[in-house]
Amino acid sequence: MCIGGSKQELSVSLCRLHMRGRVVLVRSLQKADTFLQRSIGTDVAAAQAEAPPRDGSDEKDGCKSLHALQVERQEQAERSVLINCQSRTNEKKFLKYLSNHGDIKKYFFYESYGLYAVVEFAKRENVASLLEGAVIPSVSHESTVPFKSRLLSLRNLSLVDLSNQQSGLQCQPQTTIPINEFIQRLSKEESIDQQITSLTEAYQLTEENSRLRFLVCSLLKDIAAAYFPECTIKPFGSSVNGFGKLGCDLDMFLDLDGISGRNVKMPKSGLSLEYQMKRANSERAVTQSILSVIGECVDQFGPGCVGVQKILNARCPLVRFAHQPSGFQCDLTANNRVAMKSTELLYLYGQLDPRVRSLVFTVRCWARAHGVTSSIPGAWISNFSLTVMVLFFLQKRSIPIIPTLDHLRDLAGPADKSVIEGNDCTFVSDFSKIQLKSNTETLEQLLCEFFEFYATFPFSRMSLNIRKGKEQNKPEVAPLHIQNPFETSLNVSKNVNATQLDRFVALCQESSWLLQQRETNTPRGGANMTTAWGLATLLLPSQVAGIKSRKKRRREPASERIKGLLESLKNKNQPKTG
Ligand code: CTP
Ligand code: MG
Repeated sequence: MCIGGSKQELSVSLCRLHMRGRVVLVRSLQKADTFLQRSIGTDVAAAQAEAPPRDGSDEKDGCKSLHALQVERQEQAERSVLINCQSRTNEKKFLKYLSNHGDIKKYFFYESYGLYAVVEFAKRENVASLLEGAVIPSVSHESTVPFKSRLLSLRNLSLVDLSNQQSGLQCQPQTTIPINEFIQRLSKEESIDQQITSLTEAYQLTEENSRLRFLVCSLLKDIAAAYFPECTIKPFGSSVNGFGKLGCDLDMFLDLDGISGRNVKMPKSGLSLEYQMKRANSERAVTQSILSVIGECVDQFGPGCVGVQKILNARCPLVRFAHQPSGFQCDLTANNRVAMKSTELLYLYGQLDPRVRSLVFTVRCWARAHGVTSSIPGAWISNFSLTVMVLFFLQKRSIPIIPTLDHLRDLAGPADKSVIEGNDCTFVSDFSKIQLKSNTETLEQLLCEFFEFYATFPFSRMSLNIRKGKEQNKPEVAPLHIQNPFETSLNVSKNVNATQLDRFVALCQESSWLLQQRETNTPRGGANMTTAWGLATLLLPSQVAGIKSRKKRRREPASERIKGLLESLKNKNQPKTG
């Protein structure tokens, strides 16, 4: 899809949107900015003490359209390699060795079953030169599959610094900090708004993690390109929609649009040639056969790809596997253009107002902490459903924070028109056309209201519809009905059973009650105190689950008081003895 509006226009309009006099948000935004700069700049810069100069292209992702971001990241990934290093690799010698093949634009180290380096060269030729110099591993008892890729191992012993036990290499974290540690950190914040911002900062994907995701797509593309040289593999879902948490799965889309015959203009007259191609019964059958073959290649030839499962009979056929060097759980799909559209839509909503991402992050973390969501597929509410629920809630504020999808469709220009398999997927891509209402609610208010909203939502009768920004009568029987924004006859949360929905509602009731208690919503005394309060309390399963008994305890003193009063009245009316 072509996202209109120049990059500059986009930046200006976004900055304008972000600056809209929301004084309460300024601090949070400043913190978020500092974080972004830290994760993009200083942390990496530390590892780059002797590193090549930065190219200045690390503009904050927040001001780019998803399309621009994807193009840039894909291009970076094509110029990058992934190298398994020895734990005491000498950084300086390592860089010097690699620089023989060309300028290094960026690099970082991380740990995942071993030490790895992502190295981005200035040109693709540099990578070709590096690969030319690489050797085939010599193995004594086994054989190797002679598939060469950009996943390499560093074997030169002289690059290992034996004089120094500690290599001093700075690794970029690819996983989140343990929840216990995090809860302590949250408890030191001064307000619930700050806690929410801090949670978002700590759990969102880092610059490096995002690069690694695109690199894995690019490595996979090299496998698929053996059959389909013009293909691309694009990440979608939470890896790119702005709502991804460190450790989330990597959803990939094998894009064959360039060779699918879609959008092809037939010559009106004269001679022309066309390819002879095998025919299949349906598009689904083609997708299944392509994924079956690529899945087999990934399984048999893909370095680092393990546990490959071909799930071809699912509504959306996919190949699932683990990419060990990155630690990502991967889902590869094909012909999944509607999901790409919903990814773009979520990205757009997340960019419109910083509270959207923060609230989605908080609700996702809260749900995970209480087991309302899970990484294992099942009758749980999915993160995607939960995100749509947050968006719906934000549309339903008395002053809506985000517009409806119908409104975004009405703002669309001719270039935005998109119909996929008969579904209208059109919505505006030029952010500057979107006028937001001036809602000034704080994150704390919104979180509290979110719980209240869903604690009392008439789930038994109504369906959530972000296209209209309104609840509507359920078109079919399902405990939870959330209309798919583009494939409107589908229910996004079809998998959810009544037990899981009841748990969600009960947790919303309890969390809403907790947030209204003074003992929960008041800071517990500054930087050295670690007693959980505010959001930290909400993330502790024992605290929320314990509410029912606490509510009961609260009632007890009242009943005790009444009992005492009755006793005293009785005593008063009784003749004094003695
Ligand atoms: N999707 C969809 N309809 C669904 C489920 C998923 O359109 N019923 C699309 C959404 O764009 C979603 C993407 O597929 O973002 C990937 O799905 P999934 O991995 O389940 O959700 P994520 O948003 O990636 O969240 P998570 O971090 O849990 O992976
Ligand atoms: Mg996902």
